[in-house]
Amino acid sequence: MAQENYGQDAPTVVRNLAIIGGAILLGAWTTGTGGLWFRQLPAWVLALRPTLVATGWVLVAMAAWMVVSSRWLKPQVLKSLLDQHAWRGDEAVLDIGCGRGLVAIAAARRAPHGYVTGIDLWQEVDLAGNSPAAIHANAVAAGVADRLTVDTGDARALPYPDASFDVVASMTAIHNIPDAAGRTTAIAEAWRVTRPGGQILIYDIRHARAYAAQLKTLGAVDIRMSLPILLWGVLGWRFAATKPA
Ligand SMILES: C[S@@+](CC[C@H](N)C(=O)[O-])C[C@H]1O[C@@H](n2cnc3c(N)ncnc32)[C@H](O)[C@@H]1O
Repeated sequence: MAQENYGQDAPTVVRNLAIIGGAILLGAWTTGTGGLWFRQLPAWVLALRPTLVATGWVLVAMAAWMVVSSRWLKPQVLKSLLDQHAWRGDEAVLDIGCGRGLVAIAAARRAPHGYVTGIDLWQEVDLAGNSPAAIHANAVAAGVADRLTVDTGDARALPYPDASFDVVASMTAIHNIPDAAGRTTAIAEAWRVTRPGGQILIYDIRHARAYAAQLKTLGAVDIRMSLPILLWGVLGWRFAATKPA
């Protein structure tokens, strides 16, 4: 039976950190062996060796932490994010920036009589192997394919009527919008498509507190913000916010 595979976040960054870190360590190691070309290096370059070794290990460790974060830690954060909602089991759920379906499929499991919609732009640079086919394969493997639809679209212009969803979720997606104005538009869109009485559940790096502050000005209540969470070497926060009934 096929296994679910939710992919590696920021695969290019991980690859570059590993290659640069590995190359630095290799260079530093060879300068320590006393042979070959590095005998020609000036003394001041050789004196840099301890710094190079430290830098190389830091870069390799960052790459490893990014892999551990995507594969093992993010599912834990997801669980704590979905725990913020008191699931009835029949919710209509939207996952913004659904990628390969980590949030969407977990939500479908918590709402066995509900329906989940995922929307994404499928940017491979943000998630390895990101595609409608990949999330569909995971949904089939998880046995929820009959309750999950995927749309191609932008978080800044959601193609859904107002008040369409009981739960609007998003994980490590909105920070990929490069400008603050775009992120503000995306949060306003999330608010627009949330039903009165519904809940917004977000985990994101860097900007999550700004999203929560914006939702507060839009009228959200019962905003519950986590302590900082360190994934991929960048601080993030999860929060839940309710749209008053
Ligand atoms: C790091 S991945 C996370 C995917 C998934 N939420 C998860 O946690 O596994 C970020 C996702 O956001 C999507 N994305 C980036 N900008 C977007 C936008 N403006 N609208 C919709 N999706 C976007 C990317 O294509 C990518 O699939």
